[in-house]
Amino acid sequence: MINKVREATIPITEIEQSAFCQTDDELKSKPLEQELEAGVQWQKLPISYLKMSPEELDTRIFEARQQIGERLVVLGHHYQRNEIIKYADFRGDSFKLSQLAASKRDAEYIVFCGVHFMAETADILSGPDQSVILPNLTAGCSMADMAQIDDVMDCWDDLQNVMGGDVTPITYMNSAASIKALCGRNEGIVCTSSNAPATFKWAFERTDKVLFLPDQHLGRNTGSKLGIDPADMLLWNPFKPMGGHTEDEVRKAKVILWQGHCSVHTRFSVDQIEEARSKHPDVKIVVHPECFKEVVDAADLNGSTEYILKVVNESPPGSVWAIGTEVSLVNRVAQENPDKTVFCLDSVVCPCSTMYRIHPAYLSWVFDALNAGVVVNQISVDPTTAEEARVALNRMLAIV
Ligand code: 13P
Ligand code: SF4
Repeated sequence: MINKVREATIPITEIEQSAFCQTDDELKSKPLEQELEAGVQWQKLPISYLKMSPEELDTRIFEARQQIGERLVVLGHHYQRNEIIKYADFRGDSFKLSQLAASKRDAEYIVFCGVHFMAETADILSGPDQSVILPNLTAGCSMADMAQIDDVMDCWDDLQNVMGGDVTPITYMNSAASIKALCGRNEGIVCTSSNAPATFKWAFERTDKVLFLPDQHLGRNTGSKLGIDPADMLLWNPFKPMGGHTEDEVRKAKVILWQGHCSVHTRFSVDQIEEARSKHPDVKIVVHPECFKEVVDAADLNGSTEYILKVVNESPPGSVWAIGTEVSLVNRVAQENPDKTVFCLDSVVCPCSTMYRIHPAYLSWVFDALNAGVVVNQISVDPTTAEEARVALNRMLAIV
């Protein structure tokens, strides 16, 4: 056992979370220079891009995109701003985008409008001659930042000592490539919010116990879906020796949950669900499984971003939906379903601060660079890490 007590640190990405929260539901891009006034620490850009108006940027992006042509594919996660998602050749949740990254082999460049762990995954799954570009290198994920590889390795060593190999590591896609690699070389697997139960079943066919990284809520919700008693799921605090437990407690647990969370999804509450139900008796509530278990239990449905989009799109006209996920997606679902009432469970509108870092100025800059023959902001995972992480990713792709 490694006997350490470390200071808990809050990722900078989480501290910035409230910078763009507002109480009205209009989230329109401003010139980058004005957005930076919120005090955020984003990647620096040449000054000319800072001052361009959203309209100027839009024209510029459109023309540059035409010029690049089929050498490029643009992938966009559902949480991207409207001004960005309109340029995505394909939109999706993390699972769908990873499949697309693995299959779009004709494009020389993949511009990934999403966050760092998604671009890393695209690099791992794409071909050796393809370049993956993340328009803003500071677009990370506060949840992924909560699992640092050194802490995860310490935890893994502790579990090996206590459980003697009877544990399978599962990491959520929202984690660094180094953690996916740890899973790859230790008979583990990656999952996304759309396939977590299948990966749990896969793991329990091999060992009696699971280590789930880094989102405690997705892990707890998935364990519960499979009938595991929450009392058999133990929360691992990386800042305490043995995760804050005795060896005996760890030995008895069935699922070890890493103490990570999403600052966007933990805003949703049972009170908000009750309020939505009292105001709209016919409302259906759909939430992302990164929400608290009580919220998932109180909702009617839960699933990945692609699932949320699908259930609302396929519902009959006149349906009423309250959605517990990131607001850029909720607003888009509402716009695309004008015959339904669609609103965010949380009345304070908070975009994911890191997804929001892909401002149109960055997209314009990377497209201009490609037209000038320069690849900027390339994401390259080192070959050994990529090889091990690919093993864990391919296990996921093979079972779902
Ligand atoms: P999805 O895989 O459901 O798109 O989720 C990704 C994510 O980051 C949710 O916060
Ligand atoms: Fe990460 Fe949460 Fe943003 Fe998803 S919504 S990218 S989990 S911070």
